[in-house]
Amino acid sequence: MSFTVAIDGPAAAGKGTISREVAAHFGFAHLDTGLLYRATGRRTLDGTDPVEAARTLTPEDLEADDLRTPDVAQAASRVAAVPEVRAALVDFQRAFAMRAGGAVLDGRDIGTVICPDAQVKLYVTASDDIRADRRHKELTGKGMEISLEQVLEDLRQRDARDSAREAAPLKPAEDAVLLDTSEMSIDEAVASAIATIDSVRGRG
Ligand code: CDP
Ligand code: CDP
Repeated sequence: MSFTVAIDGPAAAGKGTISREVAAHFGFAHLDTGLLYRATGRRTLDGTDPVEAARTLTPEDLEADDLRTPDVAQAASRVAAVPEVRAALVDFQRAFAMRAGGAVLDGRDIGTVICPDAQVKLYVTASDDIRADRRHKELTGKGMEISLEQVLEDLRQRDARDSAREAAPLKPAEDAVLLDTSEMSIDEAVASAIATIDSVRGRG
């Protein structure tokens, strides 16, 4: 039987970290849907048409080692505003969500558009400064030279574009549980997410 956990929220809120740990805890599969948009955006950097790029994504595109850079993130956010790009990626995400054994998907529109019937919806946030600080540590930890101000600017630009677009904008689903991780360690945020999922599974 399928069981879907939808985890949405702004950039660098902790969606991916929480999703990975929740998936490991329950034995669910995990899909980071941001990677689909990052891989599509990355392919447009050499002039490829965004819709063509989304329709012809390959497994290799999803494994490129520069997908996590702010330049690719910006390209992702630009292509993500194109309705035909989003439409090209829907079937893959919905099929993943329905796989037997349970699935966690994280992104921007999982609870609102991709899986409106998900059993659990979480909307993960943290303050801008804290998100920027975490992402800055992550990028510089990998050896990238980038200032905290540049990281903050990337997050703010993407959040503004992602929230303002007409196609599947970033916003909490009406029935999402809000999880503000500003004052939480990763372990605390994961424990809170697991408690929410346990309470739903207990009811089922
Ligand atoms: O997937 P998303 O962009 O929402 O965020 P992430 O990549 O999971 O998290 C961004 C960074 O914040 C990572 O380096 C996490 O280890 C860190 N993080 C944290 O320090 N405290 C949390 N409660 C959650 C994430
Ligand atoms: O890790 P971070 O939160 O910084 O970004 P991401 O989740 O990898 O997403 C990169 C970009 O892809 C976002 O800024 C959105 O524009 C787009 N995206 C989207 O529109 N819908 C999704 N379900 C996932 C990502």
